[in-house]
Amino acid sequence: MRIVLVGPPGAGKGTQATLLAAKLGVPHISTGDLFRANISQQTELGKLAKSYMDAGNLVPDEVTIAMAKDRMEQPDAENGFLLDGFPRNVSQAEALDEVLNTESIKLDAVLDLEVPEAEVVKRIAGRRICRNDSAHVFHVEYKPAAKEGVCDVCGGELYQRDDDSEDTVRKRLEVYHTQTEPIIDYYKAQGLVVTISSLGPVEEITKRALEALKRED
Ligand code: AP5
Ligand code: ZN
Repeated sequence: MRIVLVGPPGAGKGTQATLLAAKLGVPHISTGDLFRANISQQTELGKLAKSYMDAGNLVPDEVTIAMAKDRMEQPDAENGFLLDGFPRNVSQAEALDEVLNTESIKLDAVLDLEVPEAEVVKRIAGRRICRNDSAHVFHVEYKPAAKEGVCDVCGGELYQRDDDSEDTVRKRLEVYHTQTEPIIDYYKAQGLVVTISSLGPVEEITKRALEALKRED
C-alpha cells in the first residue's frame, strides 16, 4: 500500500505511522525524522534544514523533494510506503505525482488525521523523544516513561525537540494551515482522502485508521 499521512503538528502522525507501517508491512518514511537524522549527524543538509525547522518554516522544496525521492527509491519501499510529513505543500504533491507517474504507480489513500488545536498544543508541549530512536516517543502526561527522562524501550535519553517551543509551534500551525492544508483539496480532487478523528487512545485511532483504509486489524 502507498499511503500519505497528513495532519497538523502533534496530530499523532509519527505515533500512528510507526504502528500502521508495522501492520501494513511497509516502511515509515518521515521527512522530519530524515532531517533530524541529518542534523544529529551534522551533514550539510542537516545544517541547512535546522535553520528552517527551528523557525517553524518548511525546508525548501528542492532539497526536501530530492531527499524524499531518494528514500522512496530504496529497495524496502518498492512495494509500498507510508509517507509522514511529505508532501507538505502543493508543489511537493505535484512532484510526488510525477515520481509515481514515471513508475506507473498510484497512491492508495491520503489519511487525514483531525485533531483540535488545543489538543495539539498539549501533545506537543509534553512530547519527549528518545535520542537513540525517533520512533520511541513519549508524553509526560499521556504516555509517561517509567523513569523520567529515560526511554523505556532502549534506556536512551529523552529530550524535547528544539522546534517544540510555544512560539515555533504557533508558526508551524500557521504554516500547516496556509501551505499544507491545500494538499487535502488537491488529493480530494483525486478521490484519495480519508479523514478520521485523531482523538482518543492511540490503539483506537490505529483501529479507526485500518478500518478507514479497509484493512483488518
Ligand atoms: P515533522 O517532524 O514532520 O513535524 P510535524 O508535522 O510538525 O509533526 P510532529 O512530529 O510535531 O507531530 P506528529 O503528528 O508526528 O505527532 P506525534 O506522533 O509525535 O516536521 C518538523 C519540521 O521539519 C517542519 O516544521 C519542517 O521545518 C521540516 N519538514 C518536515 N517535512 C518537510 C517537508 N515535506 N517539507 C518541508 N519541510 C519539512 O505525537 C505528538 C505527541 O502526542 C507525542 O508525545 C505522543 O506521545 C502524543 N500522542 C500521540 N497520539 C496521542 C493520542 N492519541 N492521545 C494522547 N497523546 C498522543
Ligand atoms: Zn529509545
